[in-house]
Amino acid sequence: MCGIIGYVGNNNSVPYIIDGLKKLEYRGYDSAGVSILQNGRLVTVRAVGKVAELEKAALLANPKGSTGIGHTRWATHGKPSEENSHPHTDCTGDIVVVHNGIIENYLILRDKLKSLGHQFKSETDTEVIAHLIEENLKHVSGKNDADLLIKAVQKTNAEISGAFAYGVLWARTPGLLVGVKNQSPMVVGLGENENFLASDVPAFLKHTNKVLFLEDGEIAVLRVDGVTVLDKAGKAKKVKPVKISWDQQTAEKGGYPHFMLKEIYDQPQAIEDTLRTARTDFGKILGLNTEALRGLQNIHIIACGTAYHAGLVGKYYIEQFAGIPVSVDLASEYKYRTVPHRVDTLAIAISQSGETADTIGAVKKAKSLGFRTLAICNVLGSTLTRTCDSTFFTHCGPEISVASTKAFTSQITSMYALAIFLGNANGNLSQNVFDKLYKELMALPKAMSEVVKDEYTVRHLTRKIYKADRFIFLGRNVNFPIALEGALKLKEVSYRSAEGFAAGEIKHGPISIIDKGTPVFMLMPHDSLFEKMLSACQECRARGAFVVAITTPDGEKQAKDVADKVLLVPQASEFLQPALNVVPLQFLAYWIAKRLGCDIDQPRNLAKSVTVE
Ligand code: M6R
Repeated sequence: MCGIIGYVGNNNSVPYIIDGLKKLEYRGYDSAGVSILQNGRLVTVRAVGKVAELEKAALLANPKGSTGIGHTRWATHGKPSEENSHPHTDCTGDIVVVHNGIIENYLILRDKLKSLGHQFKSETDTEVIAHLIEENLKHVSGKNDADLLIKAVQKTNAEISGAFAYGVLWARTPGLLVGVKNQSPMVVGLGENENFLASDVPAFLKHTNKVLFLEDGEIAVLRVDGVTVLDKAGKAKKVKPVKISWDQQTAEKGGYPHFMLKEIYDQPQAIEDTLRTARTDFGKILGLNTEALRGLQNIHIIACGTAYHAGLVGKYYIEQFAGIPVSVDLASEYKYRTVPHRVDTLAIAISQSGETADTIGAVKKAKSLGFRTLAICNVLGSTLTRTCDSTFFTHCGPEISVASTKAFTSQITSMYALAIFLGNANGNLSQNVFDKLYKELMALPKAMSEVVKDEYTVRHLTRKIYKADRFIFLGRNVNFPIALEGALKLKEVSYRSAEGFAAGEIKHGPISIIDKGTPVFMLMPHDSLFEKMLSACQECRARGAFVVAITTPDGEKQAKDVADKVLLVPQASEFLQPALNVVPLQFLAYWIAKRLGCDIDQPRNLAKSVTVE
């Protein structure tokens, strides 16, 4: 995600920037940096780690100046290191850039700029922007330096693609700060003789609550005495400031009362960001050529908790699309069981944090057996990514709430992308089928943005059931892991007893725990197993259960006949449906916990990453 803050005013910008970065740490915290315009020269200080490390370094370097920008990083390209920390500079060191997002065509641009003589110092996509502005300054004309910079930024924007927001300082234009927004957040804070550019309002809320929300494609030009917003065509436009009434804490959560709720709503974006890199060549990531990919005989998935559930979904995907046998293990079990040594095995470790001790231990075992290892992980530079042979990153930004939500759906998305890639590579899927599946995958963010609109219906339902002693979740096939995940989510945040089962299994025992009024959630999209789920509804209802059917529009009518309540989710392809079906269950856990007064973001006895065995 990354956090950006910029200041132009009459005071020393450093304390404003450091303080703003601390407020943005929820967006990323693997390294941070500032650039301050001091006596016509840009002074840059960067440090690995949290903003506190940068603060120490800035105290020592003691830069001073009334125009400056800062950045707290959540690595996407290049490991967390001082060289990869922002701000990044051009060849002259007179242009600095801080950036949030991904420049998709950065490799092509970097090669082109290198051939023109530009020298790169980092592994980041961001540095391309600084060099491109430097290059474009040679090719634009303007009435003064400020005009030149704006034109060079406009030309740069036309050449870069992806989702990005960035801020630029040029040593030749003191008192001027330029900000760009395109599909990544960027806001402007209007103060008295001082103005702010930031990824999010909390960065400057202490100083002003007057905010300009920029639209995609817009450029903000900040000076001490005012801000001009340029539209996509480069024309100045009037933007009405909004007065924010949030307090600091609410602002950090994007206006939501809890990170968990914010992160549920982050999911369409998180999936879209993950998908940006999904058409990537997994063969390259895995370090395997076509022959080796065709030769893959076994896949072992290892993970814990929610990530384990994503692994279970992944098994259905890989076996369906690539025809490779998959075993899924809890990492803590994998370490201690006898794992037959089979050549041509790939071990996939799934982890949000990349620091889960059990998962890392299991990967070490897989390596010791000679298996190739792939991490599906959200944190660049984490121990897991350094332990595995290669990594595919979920790009959902920091997940703060202990209960994992957006990481889960991003993991499912990644597993689907991997499965269809493997299927295509080993000849199990024709190119036509691959293209069709890929197109369906690309439609997922849109469907996800529909499903998150349904919070109110779930919230309303929880009024009736939140006091129940136990909750049951049932699903079949690819929705069975979603039943497990629904139960885990609810247990974690509400401390209620909850269990997930394969719907076909309840008659073999679990049905005995159903009592009058026991809420039973049925994951039953209108697919090939719908009829079987209707029967399961009837079996549970006959025992007095309060049955809630989660289904798609085509199943609504029949579901209404057998359930006490129907929750609708949009229809996706059968194998993508789990990513949508889990969302009402996330809202359910949230609202039950809220009504019970639980500590939602930091449930008792739990930690965000479990770094001990
Ligand atoms: O960081 P990881 O994905 O490796 O964490 C694994 C589990 O500890 C984690 O998913 C845990 O179950 C969550 N709190 C679930 O919400």
